[in-house]
Amino acid sequence: MFKVMDTLTGNEETLITGLFKKTQPLQGTLAAIDESLEGHVTALLKEGDISADSMAVAKIFPLGKTHLKRIYISGLGREKEWGFEAAREAFGNIVKRLLADRKTEAVIDLDSFTSEHLNGLEAAHALAEALELASYKIKDYKHKSNEPEKKIEELTVLTKEDASEIKAALFVGAAHGRGTNSARTLVNMPSNILTANELAEHAKMLADRYGFECEILEKEEMQKLGMGAMLAVNQGSAEPPKMITLKYNGNENSTETIGLVGKGITFDTGGYSIKTKSGIVGMKTDMGGAAAVLGAMEIIGELKPEQNVVAVIPSTDNVISATAFKPDDVIISMSGKTIEVLNTDAEGRLVLADAITYAKHHGATHLVDVATLTGGVIVALGNDMTGATTNNDALYEQVTAASKECGEPIWQLPITEKDTKRVKSSKMADLSNSPGREGHAIMAAAFLKEFAEDTPWVHLDIAGTSVTNKESRLGPSGATGVMARTLATFIENFEV
Ligand code: BES
Ligand code: MN
Ligand code: ZN
Repeated sequence: MFKVMDTLTGNEETLITGLFKKTQPLQGTLAAIDESLEGHVTALLKEGDISADSMAVAKIFPLGKTHLKRIYISGLGREKEWGFEAAREAFGNIVKRLLADRKTEAVIDLDSFTSEHLNGLEAAHALAEALELASYKIKDYKHKSNEPEKKIEELTVLTKEDASEIKAALFVGAAHGRGTNSARTLVNMPSNILTANELAEHAKMLADRYGFECEILEKEEMQKLGMGAMLAVNQGSAEPPKMITLKYNGNENSTETIGLVGKGITFDTGGYSIKTKSGIVGMKTDMGGAAAVLGAMEIIGELKPEQNVVAVIPSTDNVISATAFKPDDVIISMSGKTIEVLNTDAEGRLVLADAITYAKHHGATHLVDVATLTGGVIVALGNDMTGATTNNDALYEQVTAASKECGEPIWQLPITEKDTKRVKSSKMADLSNSPGREGHAIMAAAFLKEFAEDTPWVHLDIAGTSVTNKESRLGPSGATGVMARTLATFIENFEV
């Protein structure tokens, strides 16, 4: 897909180059083109027909004065404001334009996209990631697609930097983009197709491809292990539950194992505490946490960081039948803690409770869980920020740093002693799964904290960020694949 070259061969048709504001005289490749076009680029700039404003794209036709048939000039805005995020956006913008123009091949003048704040390797990473993300198309089930399939088959990267280093950076960026896209695809799939069993099959496929250890616990094994919280949620279902574990051992000299836990509710009706007819639509996406973890594992499989990782995904749907669990039920979790179920729609924390305990059984010394856990986090933070809670500031720092690096912002919510008291306020059991609507994103987190216990833990509530209703430069509306990249980056950079 990518080629790297240091000069044009004379056979290229389409060139893409970037232009910062106030770059006069023109530099690099664009200066050379301007010369062959007898100052035409400079003239167009002066007239305002070419703009260096961020996200502006101009297309010029050399009409035989160079071997190129067309040149796209991508406005990059002010050099001072340029960085990895801006670059990803600009590359996504250009990719969308090329797709719209049905260009399947192009050369990109990478060095024109670098600055004091973005070196060639970072630019290459941003380019490859953006190419994957911006080209993503939802896998639908239409007999006839609304649009013809569009794809960029070959992108040649023109740069004076070391070709093998650039290739490595392109590989990393593409892996991040593809892992995110896989997460998007899982989230967009309807629950009649993506059952717990199918999610387990996807995990097995990753295990085969990358040599992970894979364990899928069936209902009987969960019963033996006493996973009463997980089983309560599955109790009304016709679909067998799966506790999915993937293990990646990338560092035998380390005693640390990072546990990634992802909520894998394939559909959330709410159970007997049933959702409204509008609130239930979209609940096929309630496995966004599982998708993020599997997307991260795909990236890890590609990039092979020197870390040990155990990924645990509790998967079932949450539905109603004569056998379903009910409000007022008291259940016993794998940890031994008893839980009074006051709301069957607070099912995520139940399956996660046993999954967190199980990740520790598999040797997790650090934990990050990801879940579409509460509507409360959407009320608190909206759709741009993932809510986060922790019992360990040092671990939280590492997760935030990764989230910043990936452009997936997180924002911390507190868990106070009083919050913990509320979670323990049940008359009937050690914990209540729903101690009232006040601060309920925090209640869910405070509940999970009781299962993380002393293990350093960060919780990410992606209910507001896993799906978007807006198309962007880096993808269509629908699943975002949020946190796949952040988790993978956190793992790549993890230090004790
Ligand atoms: N899966 C939902 C949370 C959710 C809501 C995700 C909207 C995406 C969009 C979760 O299981 C849930 O139902 N949470 C309840 C908790 C409440 C009953 C304490 C909620 O947030 O209303
Ligand atoms: Mn629910
Ligand atoms: Zn749910």
